[in-house]
Amino acid sequence: MTERVPQTTDDAGIPAPSDQFSQSVGPNGPLLLQDHYLIQKMAHFNRERVPERVVHAKGGGAYGVLEITEDVSQYTKADLFQKGKRTDLLLRFSTVAGELGSADTARDPRGFALKFYTEQGNYDIVGNNTPIFFIRDPSKFSDFIHSQKRRADNQLRDHNMQWDFWTLQPESAHQVSFLMTDRGTPKSWRHMHGFGSHTFLWYNAAGEKFWVKYHFKTEQGVENFTAAEAKALEAQDPDLHRRDLWNAIKNGDHPSWTVNVQIMPFEDAADYRFNPFDLTKVWPHADYPEITIGRFTLNRNPENYFAEIEQAGFEPSNLVPGIGMSPDKMLQGRLFSYPDAHRYRIGPNYLQLPVNRPKSPVHSYNRDGAMAYVNGGDPVYAPNTVGGPAADPDLYKGSGYHVAGEIVRSAYQLHKEDDDFSQPRALWEKVLSHTDRANMVSNIVGHASAPEVTDDMKKRVVEYWTNIHPDLGGGVAKGLGVQS
Ligand code: NDP
Ligand code: HEM
Repeated sequence: MTERVPQTTDDAGIPAPSDQFSQSVGPNGPLLLQDHYLIQKMAHFNRERVPERVVHAKGGGAYGVLEITEDVSQYTKADLFQKGKRTDLLLRFSTVAGELGSADTARDPRGFALKFYTEQGNYDIVGNNTPIFFIRDPSKFSDFIHSQKRRADNQLRDHNMQWDFWTLQPESAHQVSFLMTDRGTPKSWRHMHGFGSHTFLWYNAAGEKFWVKYHFKTEQGVENFTAAEAKALEAQDPDLHRRDLWNAIKNGDHPSWTVNVQIMPFEDAADYRFNPFDLTKVWPHADYPEITIGRFTLNRNPENYFAEIEQAGFEPSNLVPGIGMSPDKMLQGRLFSYPDAHRYRIGPNYLQLPVNRPKSPVHSYNRDGAMAYVNGGDPVYAPNTVGGPAADPDLYKGSGYHVAGEIVRSAYQLHKEDDDFSQPRALWEKVLSHTDRANMVSNIVGHASAPEVTDDMKKRVVEYWTNIHPDLGGGVAKGLGVQS
């Protein structure tokens, strides 16, 4: 006997009249408006897409678990970071500039967005595979992204406009340096590090405060493609990274990352040699070494990409007790931007979708709105005398700090060694191998040789790299045929 399959229904659960035929007036006649089943099918199809993410549109992700192996209770009381604790998580990887169908191996930073389903609500670390970023003020973000996406007239990507923005914003030099090494074309999502990038606040049960940076070090080892390999793969398999992660997990080869932190005593920030909140800078390891606190593993693929990955909403504003914000201006801007994006892209009740819903109880006084599903009952207001949920401000004791000043529009106040070039110079001089440097030069030359890049722009490109190191500028000048 053949096994019975379930009966098709419409979305109201009503048995479907046919999987094959619309209702018509006679076999050859016109169709009928009363065919609700056909109309629901066509109308729903027209609404299948939500807008793609305005950045980081192409990606993939998986579930896993974080395990804390060291005692860091002297730094943070956050429940998920207590020794021995295991916390479920979702990690979404992405490219930044490409659209939903774009190729995974494009030269781009990679998103590294983590959502921890803690017992105190969701904690999201929405980072990249680099510890730094292109700009240090959120007011430039949309301009920056526009320059990396498409022109208004012909809807083409345009390297001239990319270099125009970068060379006018020397603060981009550190991040563009990373991008132009072979780390700009990782071999897979499994073979790259992740970073929280920003500086965050940690505070312990006694209310003592520390600044912290997260480093997630791949246990698969860092592996990259050369520019030529990455280019060839754009045509051969645009979904290479999505496929690689899916297959690895399906085959039981679970990728893992060591979780390291750099900890800065709260008081050090004021006169540290670099501005510790400037997102274009790292904290050199000699000043603040990395401390291992645990590791996480990805062990489960999503069952439904749209429901669990496309509709996932990560937000740097999801912080739990024991973790706070820093005055990093980029972080401050992002605290607003992400929940705002989700309300538009997914809907006001995006936090009720299974992938975004915390695993801890929700007792919020927010109510109703489109697609409200898990809607609280009475009382609908606070404070109240009828036993409704009440906040416990003590949970956040220690998270505050003093700030004062004139209201201004200004660059960050410089610290002793702040400038835009010394850290990328350290990367070039101290960290990159001979081969890394040669590849970096040829990657820059390849990028700035696009036909739309003007001669004048090429001179500015050479100047930009010469600021970092004369050998780097010289190599780029030679490759671009610019007299330096
Ligand atoms: P260190 O020598 O202590 O650290 C160098 C860092 O660079 C290591 O984290 C290393 O880790 C990483 N690295 C190695 N090869 C590359 C590469 N090809 N591209 C990017 N990163 C690489 O020196 P400092 O801490 O003083 O930093 C010197 C420079 O190194 C910085 O100016 C910055 O450009 C870069 N860097 C620094 C980081 C930090 O947090 N301090 C983090 C990453 C880079 P790994 O090989 O595991 O990636
Ligand atoms: C995605 C804004 C800087 C990492 C997004 C999205 C927006 C956005 C609107 C789309 C969200 C969505 O629709 O789901 C901004 C703004 C920034 C900024 C305004 C600066 C002011 C950064 C930085 C990083 C970063 C510095 C990394 C350190 C990411 C990642 C995603 C993302 C990883 C994808 C998240 C996912 O997988 O869903 N950003 N961004 N962004 N951003 Fe940013």
